[in-house]
Amino acid sequence: MSVEATAPGKMILFGEHSVVYRGPAIVLAIDRRAKVTASKRGDRRVYVDAEDLGFSGYFEDDSYYPIHGRAWRGRNLSALNVAARIVMGHIGASGGVNLVVRSTIPIAVGLGSSAAVCVATTAAVGELFDGKLTKQDIADLSFEGEKIIHGTPSGVDNNVATFGGVMKYERGSGFERLSFDEALPFVIGNTRRKRSTRSQVENVKALRDRNPELVEPIIDIMGDISRTGLDALLRRDTRKLGDLMNINHGLLAALGVSTGDLERLVDAARAEGALGAKLTGAGGGGCMIALADEASISGVEKAIRIAKGQSIRVSPTSEGVQTRRIEPGDN
Ligand code: MEV
Repeated sequence: MSVEATAPGKMILFGEHSVVYRGPAIVLAIDRRAKVTASKRGDRRVYVDAEDLGFSGYFEDDSYYPIHGRAWRGRNLSALNVAARIVMGHIGASGGVNLVVRSTIPIAVGLGSSAAVCVATTAAVGELFDGKLTKQDIADLSFEGEKIIHGTPSGVDNNVATFGGVMKYERGSGFERLSFDEALPFVIGNTRRKRSTRSQVENVKALRDRNPELVEPIIDIMGDISRTGLDALLRRDTRKLGDLMNINHGLLAALGVSTGDLERLVDAARAEGALGAKLTGAGGGGCMIALADEASISGVEKAIRIAKGQSIRVSPTSEGVQTRRIEPGDN
């Protein structure tokens, strides 16, 4: 018997950077998913097949042994080893597991790929050992794994990957989950430039330290945009949402986190009739998102490709982590 678990990626609709200081961020689960298939092994190894990314290997006592690809790839895969060990420790299971990872979420561009893989691993291994994990258990356990790998993440990615839907996150007051079941046509434009969240956050902080009287009001307006934007989203007021995305992008650019590549994709989307377009996540590379109506969405996708971006059509999804047992003979 094996267990397959899938979990969604995410995009930040509003509130990146301002959420570091105050005000909410609005984060949506998207219909791009990571899939992890887990099965038991007769030894104590955690074997990871990530052949989509071009590597595979196994962990034994936390040391990584590559089978395909370089040894340093163990760094990319250690989150899965840690997640598997944490969940096995939690439910008192012993032994080893095979983990086959496949994902349609682009990696390292702010779309929550690592959290989705971590959540899917936690859910798959939990079910494999009959751990009877609740969704809250999965979110909490996978967060432990993410903390070991990524330091101090906010936890928003794990929560969105576990529960799906729309998440409002604010430092101090935590998460509020909102159900949102409507299709909304977004296009993600991926610059394919990997970026460091940490350095973008540090740059914004330095700008704020030098110019508090100017940057503080920008942070306040971004908080207002998040609150108004959540209301517009829940009312499905796409015209208002588009306006708020455009204003938010201008403010993010003012904070210095946009790039020439991101501007090109944002301009291309707007020129083809997008209702709104903005960078998403930390900036400095990574992705932008555009909201378009059905009449213009194909043109927006094409314009992003012509501007040398990878275009990915997504819709918000309320489907969080899902698991299914696969018996021998099942497809
Ligand atoms: C990065 O995905 C979002 C930021 O707001 C950083 C953070 O909230 O930790 C830029």
